[in-house]
This record gives sequence, C-alpha cells and structure tokens, in this order.
Amino acid sequence: MKTLHTIADLRALLPEAGTCAFVPTMGNLHEGHLSLVRQARNHGLPVVASIFVNRLQFAPHEDFDRYPRTLARDCELLDSAGCDILFAPDERELYPQPQSYKVTPDPALAGILEGHFRPGFFTGVCTVVMKLFGCVRPSVAVFGKKDYQQLMVIRRMV
Ligand code: PAF
Repeated sequence: MKTLHTIADLRALLPEAGTCAFVPTMGNLHEGHLSLVRQARNHGLPVVASIFVNRLQFAPHEDFDRYPRTLARDCELLDSAGCDILFAPDERELYPQPQSYKVTPDPALAGILEGHFRPGFFTGVCTVVMKLFGCVRPSVAVFGKKDYQQLMVIRRMV
C-alpha cells in the first residue's frame, strides 16, 4: 500500500478521474471500516482510503483534539484488508484557508434525527466529502450503513 499526503502525489499516481473505488474515513479503524475496503475491492478497481479528522464536523464541545489518531496501526489494517492507496492529507492540504464556503445539505434530510442534535454536523461532513471526492475523483465510494443518515445525505449530495 502506498501512503500519500498531498493532492499532487495523488494526481500523479491516479491521473485519470473515475479509476478507483474510495473509502473515506477519519481513522481509528475497526472491522467495519475494513469490511468497506473489502467491498470496495469487489469493483475491480484500485482502492483508495482516506484518513482525515475533519474539524468542520466537530461542534466546539466535541473534542476534536482528543479524537484518536492511530495512523501506524490504521496503515497496517488497511494494507491487510487490500487497500492500494491511503490518502492522508494534513489540514493545510485540505483546508489551506479557513473553510468559509461550505456544502449545506437539505435541512429536510440533514436537520432531523442526528442532525437535529448536532447542528452543522452534516454540513461539515458534506463539505469534506465533496472536497475528498474532488481530490480522489472515484467512480464509486463506499460508506457504512451504521451511519445511515450520513449515507442518505451523501447519496443525495452526489
Ligand atoms: O463517517 C466518517 O468517518 C466521516 O463522517 C467521513 C465520512 C469520513 C467524513 O469525515
């Protein structure tokens, strides 16, 4: 597995859009994430996973700084699950300037259930996923059904 930290390196390795399957994550991986990587492999394309702890989806009282960052272990797990490329950008790479432009999902879908209790959460998720899609340019992306509302919000965004 190759680990890349910049969009430029990703573009050099995957110059054409639509040539990979993508599994976005925030790291601290567990068996659920690995099963997504295995599902992504079924598409017969190189599998790209990303690890990026997205500040925008944390409310001020949710501790962004204390979110577990376990990159070395995550790399081993991804490699063993058959991931080909890990994209692990730092914050400056993905948010070179404060991210004042955001992707705001339809409140009819994103303002209920979890979105009701975590205002702004799905805006943070959509903003980073849209960016990651722009970086990775996958033809397919795999999301867990455990976060079912997130899956629906992203599906509609796509
Ligand atoms: O489900 C997650 O881990 C995150 O919300 C995601 C989709 C990687 C965006 O940061």
